[in-house]
Amino acid sequence: MLTLGIESSCDETAAAVVRDGRTVLSNIIASQHDLHAEYAGVVPEIASRAHLERITPVIDGALKEAGVALEEVDAIAVGNRPGLIGSLLVGVSAAKALAWSLGKPLVGIDHIKAHLYAATMTPGSSGSDAKTLTPSNQNMYPALGLVVSGGHTSLFAVRSPLEMELLGKSIDDAVGEAYDKAAVVLGLPFPGGPKLDKLAQRGDPNQVSLPRSTLAPGSLDFSFSGLKTAMLYAVRGQPVGRGKSARFERSHEGLSEQEKYNLAASFQKAAVETVLLKLHWAVDHMADQGKRPLAILVGGGVSANSALRKGVVALGEELNLLALVPPMSLCLDNAAMIAGLAYERLLAGESDRLDLEAIATT
Ligand code: KG4
Ligand code: ZN
Repeated sequence: MLTLGIESSCDETAAAVVRDGRTVLSNIIASQHDLHAEYAGVVPEIASRAHLERITPVIDGALKEAGVALEEVDAIAVGNRPGLIGSLLVGVSAAKALAWSLGKPLVGIDHIKAHLYAATMTPGSSGSDAKTLTPSNQNMYPALGLVVSGGHTSLFAVRSPLEMELLGKSIDDAVGEAYDKAAVVLGLPFPGGPKLDKLAQRGDPNQVSLPRSTLAPGSLDFSFSGLKTAMLYAVRGQPVGRGKSARFERSHEGLSEQEKYNLAASFQKAAVETVLLKLHWAVDHMADQGKRPLAILVGGGVSANSALRKGVVALGEELNLLALVPPMSLCLDNAAMIAGLAYERLLAGESDRLDLEAIATT
C-alpha cells in the first residue's frame, strides 16, 4: 500500500511516499530556517505563507522522486495536530483537496505519535545510521516513548503505534527550546540546537558546573528553565539591575573558541543526563505497574543529538531493552513518519472524513 504523507505543522513543508508503513520511497523537506533566522524563532504568519508557496512543488517532488503517479497512491495522510494553526491548515487543505479529487481515503495524523513511529521505520534507500533496525514483526510493545523537540519533551507508555498514555512532560521549556536559547546566548544562528551539539563535541563537559533539575524524586516531568538561565549567567555573568533594566557585563563576544566549546559541552551533558535519568525512572515506573517496556522509542528533532543518541543506546544495553532512535532523515519534522503511521491507521480500519480539522493543541 502506498501512502502520500504531508507535514506542515511548524516551519518545514514536507511530503513523502511510503510503502506499507515502513519503506520510505521519498522524503522531501523544504525548510524555512532562512526565513525565520533574523527573528531567532519561528514567526507563524511567515511560516504559513511559505507553506502555501511550497506545498505543491514539495508534493510534486515527493511523487517524482518515488517514481509514483498521483493515481497510484492509496491514501493521503496529513499531520493535523498539534502545531501552528495557520501552518497546519495549509497541509490539511492540500490533503483534503487531493483526497477528494482522487476519491482516496484521508488520514489525519498526530504529529507527536508520528515522531515515535519514526523510530520503528526502515529508511529504505536513504540509508540509516540507527543502531538497530527493527524487523516489522519484532514485538516492541509495550514501549516507553520519548518525544524531544522544539515544542515537546514528553514521556509516554506506548501500547501500540496508535495508543499511548502520557507519563510526564516539561513543566516549562522543551529541551529543544532550551538548546535553541542556549545557542543564542553563545552567539550561534537559529536554529542553534544542531550547532551547539557540534561545538559540544570539541569541549570539556566538566569545565562549567550547570544544574540538573529532576523535580520531585521519581517525577517523570521535566524542567529546563533553570538550566537555560544558568547557561545565560555562565556566559554573561550575573545581571546588574532587574527586569527590563537588567544589564549584563559580558557577552559571548568575550569568549575564546575553547570556552564556547566547554560551555556547549557542559550544557549538553546537563541536558542529556537529565533526559536519560528520567528515561530510566520511566522504565522503572512502567515495570512497577507490571508493564515493563520491551523497547525505548525516541523521536523529535533532538533525537538527532549525538550525545542523546549514544546515551539512549547505552541505556538500552544496560537495561536490556531495544533502544530505537530514528535514522537522521526521520528525526526532524518530516512527512515519511506521517505517511508511515497512516498505514497503521488504515490497517486498523480507520480514516477521516473531509471535515477533518486542524488542531493546534495536543
Ligand atoms: O521535531 P522538530 O523538527 O520540530 C518540532 O516539532 O519542534 O525539532 C526541532 C528542534 C529544534 O529545537 C532544534 O534545535 C532541535 O530540534 N535539534 C537539536 C539537534 N537537531 C535538532 N537539538 C540538539 N541537538 C541536535 N543535534
Ligand atoms: Zn516535530
